[in-house]
Amino acid sequence: MSPDVSHVMKVAARPSIVMVEGRGSWIWDADGRRYLDFVQGWAVNCLGHSPAVVVDALEAQARRLINASPAFYNEPMAKLAAILAEASGLGEVFLCNSGAEANEGAIKLARKWGARHRGGAFEIVTMEHAFHGRTLATMSASGKPGWDRLFEPKVAGFPKVPLGDLEAVRRAITPRTAAVMLEPIQGEAGVLMASDAWLRDLRQLTREAGVLLIADEIQTGIGRTGRLFGYEHAGIEPDIMTLGKGLGGGVPIAALVASASASCFEYGDQGGTFNGAPLMAAVGCAVLEAVRAPGFLGAVTATGEYLAGRLRALSAELGHGEVRGRGLLLALALRDRDAGKVVQAALDRGLLINAPRPDSLRFMPALNVSAAEIGEMIETLDGVLTRMGAARCVA
Ligand SMILES: Cc1ncc(COP(=O)(O)O)c(C=O)c1O
Repeated sequence: MSPDVSHVMKVAARPSIVMVEGRGSWIWDADGRRYLDFVQGWAVNCLGHSPAVVVDALEAQARRLINASPAFYNEPMAKLAAILAEASGLGEVFLCNSGAEANEGAIKLARKWGARHRGGAFEIVTMEHAFHGRTLATMSASGKPGWDRLFEPKVAGFPKVPLGDLEAVRRAITPRTAAVMLEPIQGEAGVLMASDAWLRDLRQLTREAGVLLIADEIQTGIGRTGRLFGYEHAGIEPDIMTLGKGLGGGVPIAALVASASASCFEYGDQGGTFNGAPLMAAVGCAVLEAVRAPGFLGAVTATGEYLAGRLRALSAELGHGEVRGRGLLLALALRDRDAGKVVQAALDRGLLINAPRPDSLRFMPALNVSAAEIGEMIETLDGVLTRMGAARCVA
């Protein structure tokens, strides 16, 4: 029987089901119903539900040291920072608890850098439709339609430009500008991609203008696009990167990663009680070891191409639109604006997918999802879309 949920603060429209157990690509509710999960904690469970890698790391670290306090270094904190520094080529890592907190840190770091190295520059140029989190500053940095009127007054200093418009970025950069910040793929906006060529031009422009480039890799990082970090496809390196979601394989850990020249916090500028706690950092190390194991990222690319191919074939058959994205962060454009209804109908048939906008479905399965599970997902989605199309014809 489902527990009483009446005391849970109502911050999101949720179905009445209560999830109790997960394994790989599957999750079960309190009534014993099984769902095929192509949302995976919002692109978080990169190795699926409760993978041995995460469970074992949690168990081993919990027996050794759960929290040392942020006043001390600890082993997993040092190890994870070293892995991320080596993998990114960016020298310094601040571990924290959520994507929004990592981005808030990136904003503070860019402002500190602007104050020190660019005559007090504090503005950060961000992209229309961007999503950077739900703290006051990260909401202000985001370009989500409707958010401009929420929780006034906004944190100032985030001029917005369209993703992919280099001239607009050039115009927006002034002596007040400290940085340009973007997601290589705007996941929450509906999987909208910045082209690799544009990212290279943007990197050059920010270098020439003497401002920082911040890559929000919270959704695209940790193998989601088939490379460890999404910006690698363009062959560029940002000055600051933020990570979250997949870094913990399901547990809350995030990171602010910065080049030695961008990293200018002084003691007391940044911190937090749980930051770099050994329990979560140990999981981050274990997840990275799995994602960086030989062949893993190649398999993500191959699986992503397979899923994209199956979605394209289904779309062509049923008269829907394009498939966008990279690796295992994909969206299918629908003919009509009823993505929310498709998600509900899919849920009723035991499939979890997401509608980031009314005309698109998003797919962010575990990075180790199998071809058979993709086949099963396509079959269910086919049934849902066919049924809805038929219902529309009859009506
Ligand atoms: C690109 C991006 N940045 C930041 C965030 C915020 O992360 P969190 O929800 O962990 O605060 C998200 C979450 O969806 C995201 O997709």
